[in-house]
Amino acid sequence: MGLTNLPGRMKCVMATRFGVAKEVLEMVDDVPVPRVSRGSGEMLVQVKACSMTPGDVRMLSGEADLVKKPSQFPYIPGLDIAGVVVEIDPAEDEKPESERKFRVGDEVVGTWKLFGVGGMAQYALVKMELSALKPQILSFVEAASLCNSAVYSMVGVEGAQVEKGSRVMILGGSGGLGTALVQLARRAGATYIACTSTQVDLMKSLGVDCAIDYTKEAWGKRPEFAQ
Ligand SMILES: NC(=O)c1ccc[n+]([C@@H]2O[C@H](COP(=O)([O-])OP(=O)(O)OC[C@H]3O[C@@H](n4cnc5c(N)ncnc54)[C@H](OP(=O)(O)O)[C@@H]3O)[C@@H](O)[C@H]2O)c1
Repeated sequence: MGLTNLPGRMKCVMATRFGVAKEVLEMVDDVPVPRVSRGSGEMLVQVKACSMTPGDVRMLSGEADLVKKPSQFPYIPGLDIAGVVVEIDPAEDEKPESERKFRVGDEVVGTWKLFGVGGMAQYALVKMELSALKPQILSFVEAASLCNSAVYSMVGVEGAQVEKGSRVMILGGSGGLGTALVQLARRAGATYIACTSTQVDLMKSLGVDCAIDYTKEAWGKRPEFAQ
């Protein structure tokens, strides 16, 4: 079920070949709007914001073996989105009200398991299992920037078993992962957090105990990190 007045065509960004984003991305304005099929577990989201992650950039470069490359060109890049649900798998809609996770009109974040699968468009299909309701306190832009990077940071903090009294070093504290890592490590109980970044003031405002500008100093040469 969904809105009845969905357009048939949409604008999107297309990657036409491998290269630098500003050279290989094109705006296209006549692409069919994807539609939800029964049993797909998907919903169609009107995209309000899409983040471009390092993974998107690496995939576009064509040089990173570890990042899955697109199966064909052109493709619509963009991994993490925030937007409004406009259509849902009818199978989900038919569930009892208490079992339904999403409804048309919900503000959500969504991501994909693989890179570069359609976020930079007016509408995008996302899996419900890889989506969540957007917290009301976040704007669409904030939510799109957090939905993947902050989750990876959470996995990192849990995997490293950060706990009360932990001492944590974050290499690249100012980025999508780093800014979330600082806050999640503190919440997990870390008592000392150091990081590397050129944005020392930003890092201090996030509450790190020590921010080292890697362009001026090698953090490993500090006596406190030598052990
Ligand atoms: N974003 C995601 O969803 C995601 C998910 C999984 C894995 N990853 C991976 O995690 C890593 C960080 O991702 P991110 O999203 O946080 O990236 P980002 O937002 O681009 O941040 C990059 C960080 O690296 C620092 N940095 C840049 N050049 C550096 C250099 N030459 N030496 C030392 N530090 C340098 C930057 O510090 P300054 O800005 O202060 O220079 C910044 O803190 C990437 O390898 C990415 O592929 C990201």
